[in-house]
Amino acid sequence: MASVPIERLAEHAGETVEIDGWLYNLRSSGAIHFLLVRDGTGIVQAVAARADVPPEVFARIGALTQESSVVVRGVVREDRRAPGGYELSLRDVRVVQVAAPYPITPKEHGIEFLMDHRHLWLRSSRQWAILRIRSDVERAMCEYLDTQGYIRMDTPILTPAACEGTATLFETPYFDTQAYLTQSGQLYSEASAAAFGRVYCFSPAFRAEKSKTRRHLTEFWMIEPEAAYLDLEGCIELAQGLVAFVIGRVLERRGTELRALERDLGPLERVRPPFPRITYDEAVERLRAAGHAIAWGDDFGGDEETVLAKAFDRPVFVTHYPARCKAFYMQPDAARPEVVLGADLLAPEGYGEIVGGGQRIHDLALLERRLEEHRLPREQYAWYLDLRRYGSVPHSGFGIGVERTVAWICGVEHVRETVPFPRLLNRLYP
Ligand code: 4AD
Ligand code: MG
Repeated sequence: MASVPIERLAEHAGETVEIDGWLYNLRSSGAIHFLLVRDGTGIVQAVAARADVPPEVFARIGALTQESSVVVRGVVREDRRAPGGYELSLRDVRVVQVAAPYPITPKEHGIEFLMDHRHLWLRSSRQWAILRIRSDVERAMCEYLDTQGYIRMDTPILTPAACEGTATLFETPYFDTQAYLTQSGQLYSEASAAAFGRVYCFSPAFRAEKSKTRRHLTEFWMIEPEAAYLDLEGCIELAQGLVAFVIGRVLERRGTELRALERDLGPLERVRPPFPRITYDEAVERLRAAGHAIAWGDDFGGDEETVLAKAFDRPVFVTHYPARCKAFYMQPDAARPEVVLGADLLAPEGYGEIVGGGQRIHDLALLERRLEEHRLPREQYAWYLDLRRYGSVPHSGFGIGVERTVAWICGVEHVRETVPFPRLLNRLYP
């Protein structure tokens, strides 16, 4: 008999089916065993009454341990009270392996213990919900860009130079020289954009972040669209369209997972364009009014972003940051060269920056000057300067962080739960 995924049980109401799964939990009264069976696509309650199954099957079930692998056979019954709307009346259980005593029990565990057991923690229903949403978020991001005419152009992981500042580079030996793990595919995507018009890369990014915050990983995933002949306005519209599309998709398809996370849907349902926009100058005024001593030119940290985002019920763009707190490639505003044509998108509910991007410098002389000011080795950027020599055009793009976006959508406190195997300042295992 072919097995049926739990998420598709509704199509088999009344039929006898098999599920290839694991025992998530077992509760027994003398006459009935209640099994929670998971198969990766969902969890279903399977009920075995002593009267309905052969005695040896009843005894076999009673001896099962948490996370034992089992193939269960039973009749699918509609049950409004059941989580997925269906329950299984058990007929038979085939045991593939009786699991050793499982370290993660239904009681509370400390976070370091759970992180040490991340390879097993992935099986819990909360992680299941978060990571299923992550999968859809990634797919929806790509799908939206595809519909806007962007094609995926992969970028290298091993690079000779920095994109986002030399302070957070991970170095690695590379034969008789040294390489860095990429911080962002952007510079390469700029080359691809001049070749293909509209492109995006989707890659892990690495930052030797010494900060221990709820928003920082040392390895994270980012989607970065880049387009030739796109200005800051077009870039903002693309980011806004993408975020709204992704939220809409998760609301439409991942209701079960959002419910499992007890996510308040109201704030997500309000995420409709146009998103509010404020300039960096206005942001500073707002922060000062809220009692933050911030000097013009300082970058915002998590606390500042939280204050700013709290004032709005939708994500908010902050634009026109001072050049000195942004990367070397940012295009200055012609009317006010001390600020750049950049935009960050801050998510509400305290999640902070999820998107960073803007317009790039397209003038050769200015870019050369910036490399010097930032003390970046010119030889390593020779190819990047070439892009300003041969058919240079105004162009823009942004990066959206997968983990921060998923943390916000799921309403989870820390990004460490939004990636299967998080890499943090003090964590490289498992
Ligand atoms: O603002 P960032 O540093 O921008 C760039 O890397 C640009 N080169 C992107 C571009 O224009 N193509 O990073 C972009 C996004 C952030 O808004 C955030 O969502 C995420 O990447 N991000 C991180 N996520 C988790 N942990 C970290 N340490 C992150 N650093 C950035
Ligand atoms: Mg940023």
